[in-house]
Amino acid sequence: MSVAIAIDGPAGAGKSTIARLAAKELGFIYVDTGALYRTIGLAASRRGLSAEDKSQIITMLDEIKVELSFNDKGEQIVLLDNEDVSGLIRTPEISMMASAVSAIPEVRAFLLNLQRDMSHTNNVIMDGRDIGTVVLPDAKLKIFLSASPECRARRRYDELIEKGMDVKYEDVLNDVVARDYADSHRDISPLKPAEDAVMVDTSGEDLETSVNKLLSIMREYI
Ligand code: DC
Repeated sequence: MSVAIAIDGPAGAGKSTIARLAAKELGFIYVDTGALYRTIGLAASRRGLSAEDKSQIITMLDEIKVELSFNDKGEQIVLLDNEDVSGLIRTPEISMMASAVSAIPEVRAFLLNLQRDMSHTNNVIMDGRDIGTVVLPDAKLKIFLSASPECRARRRYDELIEKGMDVKYEDVLNDVVARDYADSHRDISPLKPAEDAVMVDTSGEDLETSVNKLLSIMREYI
């Protein structure tokens, strides 16, 4: 039987970086579910749709194909109609679109089986917002990873600057706060810890400390 570890938490808590490194260490596959919502956001934005165009976004779901794959380094690739869009979905504009489309129940239903299927055939560390509560409620271990908004905004800002993007710290902080609010106040699958989640706060910690902390929790459970 395959083993699943769920990691949920707000944007910028370090989920993806930590989960990726921990998965490598444990020989698990790392699944970044935010990339799927971002891909739907990209598809909508390419069609000129905005967050308010809910019915067109729902119609669009019948016309697009979203798939997850892994390259030879074991990194996740997300395909939109056979095109690798993994790089294109990492912009602030697509972050906001992803948050908006993720509040549409039909979008969440569209992505549910794709996420669950990954855990049937592989040992996975899956990160997102509702993995422990909705996608994999029977996960062996559920972690809720958080950090202060300022600390998360600083990390995201550094990441974007490193990618050569022209952004201001205040704008990134405002985006983080706005997305936290939207993600935790939506009606469907809001961001919240599962009842049996292990709570971990990474504020002020360097990456190595956080990874080691999570690895020792994971090793206790698997
Ligand atoms: O983790 P991320 O920043 O790449 O996620 C992008 C958006 O997708 C985020 O604002 C919330 C949404 N999301 C979600 O609703 N459920 C998930 N399991 C993963 C992401």
